[in-house]
Amino acid sequence: MLNVGLLGAGRIAGVHATAISTNPGSRLAAVSDFIPENAQRLAEKYQTTARTTDEIIADPSIDAVLIATSTDTHSDLIERATAAGKAVLCEKPVDLSLARAKACQVAVASSGKPVMIGFNRRFDPNFAGLKAAADRGEIGKTEILSITSFDPAPPPVAYIKISGGIFRDMMIHDFDMANFLMSSVPVTVSAAASSIVDPAIGAAGDFDTAVVTLTYADGRIAVIKNSRRAVYGYDQRVEMLGSEGLLQAQNMLESTVVKSTTAGVTSAKPTYFFLERYMPSYAAEWAAFVQAVTLGKPLPVTLADGVAALAMAEAATLSAKSGKPVALAGVAG
Ligand SMILES: NC(=O)c1ccc[n+]([C@@H]2O[C@H](COP(=O)([O-])OP(=O)(O)OC[C@H]3O[C@@H](n4cnc5c(N)ncnc54)[C@H](O)[C@@H]3O)[C@@H](O)[C@H]2O)c1
Repeated sequence: MLNVGLLGAGRIAGVHATAISTNPGSRLAAVSDFIPENAQRLAEKYQTTARTTDEIIADPSIDAVLIATSTDTHSDLIERATAAGKAVLCEKPVDLSLARAKACQVAVASSGKPVMIGFNRRFDPNFAGLKAAADRGEIGKTEILSITSFDPAPPPVAYIKISGGIFRDMMIHDFDMANFLMSSVPVTVSAAASSIVDPAIGAAGDFDTAVVTLTYADGRIAVIKNSRRAVYGYDQRVEMLGSEGLLQAQNMLESTVVKSTTAGVTSAKPTYFFLERYMPSYAAEWAAFVQAVTLGKPLPVTLADGVAALAMAEAATLSAKSGKPVALAGVAG
């Protein structure tokens, strides 16, 4: 049984608290938050104890921590928890700064402790199924990957200001999805981006609309499209073209009812947002972490995967500003 400390008691921490406490291999031993009332509220809901982050990290009876705090705290907490001998699952992204994330990778390597990054979409059964089919060669040699990832509505500008920007905060999931599905990292990253959904996002120095093209050493190409607003709901689709066919993972809809009349054919909208769309993936992600840590097996998503996706976000940010393709090797080092 893995004794787990949950660091952070905000929006995504609530999802993880459910996964930790319902998994038969883990126990939610304590929760902390910068704001003690947040920790208290979540601890009461899950019948556990609210403690400080320092107390959780110092407690030798806690085997693992799940870091669900604000992004700017991730690298520090990963380093402190691994130095204290704990296994870690940390939310994406590893950090706002690529240099800081790389330093964290070096520090963790010397601790020898396992660190997994929360790219939960790898555990979505649809995307995992698409990858399995591609890896079995069911569409021949893969050639073009297309990822559509549109949010239903933009977050508050106050969040945009601390998010690290659309590439580090939002497209980071799609960069990791491209690495996962293509089983390799690209050579170049080219981005076009604008703020046409909400001028306040542009005034805050960020983009709300972005398209990135990735090229690979073997000639394959991937395209990622992000928007902070799709009026019909959370649009999350993947399409992969190969020499022998096409694989598509479509949206999950609010219902399976389809109405056909003389006016046309209509179906339900996509599920509203990530909590509706990806809920099963968070439980599967946690189950994979518990299994790997308890059996001493390799983690399915690593800190290196987190740094690789962050390097692509950095390259996309540079490309969107310069209007030129950026060689990933020059950024990733
Ligand atoms: N994988 C996903 O689908 C997904 C979805 C949402 C958020 N996230 C990531 O999860 C993280 C949290 O996002 P959120 O939406 O839950 O934010 P949030 O603001 O709702 O919650 C963050 C919480 O962390 C607390 N906190 C900050 N510093 C702390 C510290 N040093 N120790 C303890 N608590 C601290 C804050 O008080 C807050 O309650 C972000 O990095 C975000 O990118 C991932």
